[in-house]
Amino acid sequence: MKLLVINGPNLNMLGIREKHLYGTQTYEDLKAFIAEKARELGVEVEIFQSNHEGVIVDKIQAAYQQVDGIVINPAAYTHTSVAILDALKAVNIPCAEVHLTDVTKRESFRQISYAGMACEAHFIGLGFEGYARAMEYFAKK
Ligand code: DQA
Repeated sequence: MKLLVINGPNLNMLGIREKHLYGTQTYEDLKAFIAEKARELGVEVEIFQSNHEGVIVDKIQAAYQQVDGIVINPAAYTHTSVAILDALKAVNIPCAEVHLTDVTKRESFRQISYAGMACEAHFIGLGFEGYARAMEYFAKK
């Protein structure tokens, strides 16, 4: 089984950005956490991060018929990007949405998730653990 983990803008700033929300662990720590979980589950994983909407759309398109599942935290693009939603629908790859923080309890502009509309599972507000749960979800499927 091959999984693609996609992280959106500013997630590369983990450990620096708004520590009261996102904690002190870095993006390198997140990558190591995901890689370790993949080893534990015996799945192949590619971890990708971009600050650019179109680059994320390109990555989703390139995954067509190449991966068994996508774990995506589109970050701020969650709440704005119909293009990412359309790309996820276009490739028709099973998809799980992850957010480190509980976006349902944050600002009103974070209450809509476009990408989430294409996702069959949602792991929200669980910190790094959300990525592990999403990977387990696909491994058990
Ligand atoms: C986030 C939540 C988004 O609203 C925010 O723009 C992010 C991170 C999260 O993981 O909690 O950048 O996706």
